[in-house]
Amino acid sequence: MTQDITPQIPATMRAFAIDRFGELGSLRALPTPTIGAGEMLVRVHAAGVNPIDWKIRDGFKAIEDVRFPLILGQDAAGVVVQVGPQVTRFAVGDEVYGGFWLAGAFAEYVWTSTSAAVALKPSRLDFIHAAALPTPALAALTALEAVALKEGETVLIVGATGGVGSYAVQMAARRGARVIVTARPDAESYIRQLGAAEVIDYTRSDVVAAVKAAHPEGIEAVVDVISDRAALLRMAETLRHGGRLATTVHSADEAALAARDIRATNVDVLGATRGLEEVARLIDTSGVAVPLERTFPLAEAAQALAAIQAGHVRGKIVLMVA
Ligand SMILES: NC(=O)c1ccc[n+]([C@@H]2O[C@H](COP(=O)([O-])OP(=O)(O)OC[C@H]3O[C@@H](n4cnc5c(N)ncnc54)[C@H](OP(=O)(O)O)[C@@H]3O)[C@@H](O)[C@H]2O)c1
Repeated sequence: MTQDITPQIPATMRAFAIDRFGELGSLRALPTPTIGAGEMLVRVHAAGVNPIDWKIRDGFKAIEDVRFPLILGQDAAGVVVQVGPQVTRFAVGDEVYGGFWLAGAFAEYVWTSTSAAVALKPSRLDFIHAAALPTPALAALTALEAVALKEGETVLIVGATGGVGSYAVQMAARRGARVIVTARPDAESYIRQLGAAEVIDYTRSDVVAAVKAAHPEGIEAVVDVISDRAALLRMAETLRHGGRLATTVHSADEAALAARDIRATNVDVLGATRGLEEVARLIDTSGVAVPLERTFPLAEAAQALAAIQAGHVRGKIVLMVA
């Protein structure tokens, strides 16, 4: 039986917030969120750090109607401590993880509507590893579904060594695909351990020329988390007729690629409501690993954001909240 621990919720909580776009942010005491009838409150134990967090901090153009102070952070794992009367999917005491889009995950408590991307935490993971999953693993899964990758096909993953790529490589290999990746030399053994079969050092080789030389007949799919519009059009030259391509950085010119008989998708998981149940199933049943580069305490969220903004991440950075 679940226990109602509502009375223990404090009026204020520690949270990492900004007062205007462009500032580094600071830890302060802010009111603990209150919830509506269809919402729930989660005690955050760990929060995943993603490139979108520093982009929002710096004034991401797609964000409107923001109220300050704005608590940063999307991804978290923790325990449900309060549910509204209309909530039936979750109960107090459930261990959950989710992408709490714009709700403020870099805090001791985060509210969420249960129609948001939130699910029961993979049972074999602790909170720190579960917090490293929501946005990047959902992006990887969505991209692989967009390219409909099948057993025996070959996929090129560009930007394979970071958050999204580390999951995409593992999920693609588990589908029985041959995985080609881009990686710096220092990351080669890391990415081979995750399932890459061919590694192209993008700092020394032309990626398109290298793939074409090894696969003159063309490959079936490209998943790209890096290339801008022009670079992506060129990356698509690696594909055979009828090839599929997905990008997480909104750089696919879908019409231009369709004219070349390539089906392209601009993946967007922001505000996603489904998929984390499938991610949890993959983690619990197929052995997909959660590679952590580093953890920081919540008080050092500014340093964690600087680290992910500086690039060269291998896997994920996570904040330990409590
Ligand atoms: N649309 C969506 O819903 C969605 C969801 C998730 C993520 N995203 C976006 O997708 C992008 C990637 O996210 P992430 O979490 O994977 O970022 P990340 O953790 O920073 O990983 C990026 C990786 O790419 C490598 N890299 C950098 N430049 C490269 C290049 N020119 N060629 C090949 N590899 C390169 C980096 O390592 P080295 O520099 O050391 O090579 C790093 O390992 C971000 O822009 C993020 O905002 C979008």
